[in-house]
This record gives sequence, structure tokens and C-alpha cells, in this order.
Amino acid sequence: MAAASLVVVVAVIVFVLAPPASAVPFIVLHGIGDQCANHGVAKFTRLLTDWSASDGYCLEIGSGTWDSWLMPLQKQADIVCNKVKEMKELSNGYNIVGLSQYLNILYPQGSLIGRAVVEYCDDGPPVKNFISLAGPHAGTASVPLCGSGIFCILADSLIKMEIYSDYVQAHLAPSGYMKIPTDIADYLKRCRFLPKLNNEIPCERNATYKERFSSLENLVLIMDDAVLIPRETAWFGYYPDGAFDPVLPPQKTKLYMEDWIGLKTLDDEGRVKFVSVPGGHLGISKSDMKKYIVPYLKGKGKASIAATWRAITSTIGEAFVLN
Ligand SMILES: *[C@@H]1O[C@H](CO)[C@@H](O)[C@H](O)[C@H]1NC(C)=O
Repeated sequence: MAAASLVVVVAVIVFVLAPPASAVPFIVLHGIGDQCANHGVAKFTRLLTDWSASDGYCLEIGSGTWDSWLMPLQKQADIVCNKVKEMKELSNGYNIVGLSQYLNILYPQGSLIGRAVVEYCDDGPPVKNFISLAGPHAGTASVPLCGSGIFCILADSLIKMEIYSDYVQAHLAPSGYMKIPTDIADYLKRCRFLPKLNNEIPCERNATYKERFSSLENLVLIMDDAVLIPRETAWFGYYPDGAFDPVLPPQKTKLYMEDWIGLKTLDDEGRVKFVSVPGGHLGISKSDMKKYIVPYLKGKGKASIAATWRAITSTIGEAFVLN
């Protein structure tokens, strides 16, 4: 057991001499069909909290699972905006981690809600870093594979009705980011969420959204290989208007070239990190979380004693593969 005590002593010394720096808390927004109480999301939040020594909060929207499906995204974003304004822990600024999915259900949206909070939340605390996991930022073009759960059956039948109808737009959250490349006119006119978020509607562009989005310190766009159609939407890449091929890289889209929301501004200043990970339906691996997410959650201030202690114990725990 000599080796074991050595690990403990070294871990304590390392953290006492160089305490993990942090002061910036973060929030986690989960994907559709999920909830903060579920094992996957809870563990994800806890791991990031341990590794970054920053305080992390999973924010629930309404009832979780049910509301994440049925409540329009704008309303979900308003709820998050009100919550972050009420949390005094966040008043000096915070980071957002937007999640895709953990339950093998292929409708991700935590990332879009996060971006809506960045762009829309009037008088909210400043968002410093925004980390997006497999977010359908440029839309998604086809009905994703879902499964046989009750929600999936409901969703599929609603989508088959008419995706841009008022009824579907009001009752099925994912319809807010369905962008059918061969039906752009309808999308721009009747899709209620994404066209506004992306400043896509020519006479309705709002400079405030761009100003807020482009003042992020870092935008981390993580693309995985399984979830989205096309997968490049996680980086703002998409099909050209009117066709299902080829997939344009982000820099070749109008959103980027005409800088509708400030993506180009951010990129020109080196503040966009385009990350690609294997992922798959089990989500991002622990080592990729450490490599691509944790560095943006570590602040420059001094960590609280509680956070330092958590970091020490988790380092020791990992040395013994306890988790
Ligand atoms: C743009 O958005 C801001 C923030 O939500 C809002 O206060 C402002 O009225 C909007 N401007 C226009 C022209 O709609």
C-alpha cells in the first residue's frame, strides 16, 4: 500500500501548491427526452465539476423529459434565461455546456437552447464560454431515427403531418430546427425557432443577437459521428438551399460569409474551436471531455476549498479506478 499512500500524498501536495484555478461556474443543458435527474446527465455534470474544480449546475426545464419534447424551444430558452438571472452564483458570468443526447434518442437540442440564451437573454449574466456538443446549429434535414418509444411514435406522426404547420411548430420542439433544404421558403416563413436564432430572415436580422454571440470568449463546437443529418451542422455546415448535396463547410455558408450572427467574427479572432470526436450513441468519451471541454471550464480565479477538495478526491479516485 506504499504506492497508494504516495499517490494520496502527491495529489494533496500538488493541489495545495497549485490549487485548481476557478471562479467561473457552468450550467449544463441536457438534450431532448432527458432530465437532470437521469444517471447520464448527472454523472456528466459531476465529472465536469470534479475535473474543472468549477461549480456546475444542471438546469431543468419544466418537467424535464416531457417538456423537452413538447415545449417550443423559445419558451424553453426563456425559462433558462429566467433561471440564470435568479442564480446569484452566476451573476459574474458563467459558461454553458449544451448537450446532445444520452439515451440513444437522436434529437439533440440542449446546444440550441444554450445559444438562444446567449443571443436572447436580456439583462442576463454574461456567458463566457459556450461548449456545444453535437448541436444542430444549421438545422437538421431529415427525420432522425428515433426508436419505438411513445415520444418517437408521436413525433414521427406529427412530422409526417406537416412540419412547418402552426400546430406542429407549437407542439413539437424539434420542429423548430428542421430545415428541409428543398423547402427553404416555407422554412423561413413558418419555422418558428431556428431562422430567428440564425438571423436568417433578411429583413428581420437583429444586430443585438450578433453582438452578444460574437462577444463569447470561446465557442467550442464539438461534432460527433452519429447523431445529426448532416453531421457538419454541429459546426454550422449545411446543405445549400434547394439541394441535399454537397454539404457545405461552415466557411462556405451564407450565415458565415455574410456573418449573420458573428460566427465569422469569432472565427477570425481565433475564438471558434472546431472539434471532431468519435462519440456515437454513448456520447463523448471521458478523455475527450477532459481534452475539449474541461479546459474551458477552468477559470483563472482561485477555486473554493470545496472544489479543491473534490478535485483532490476525484484525482485520487481515478488513480485507483474507483469511478
Ligand atoms: C433585437 O433584440 C433585442 C434583444 O432581445 C431587443 O431588445 C430589440 O428590440 C430587438 N430589435 C429589433 C429591431 O427587433
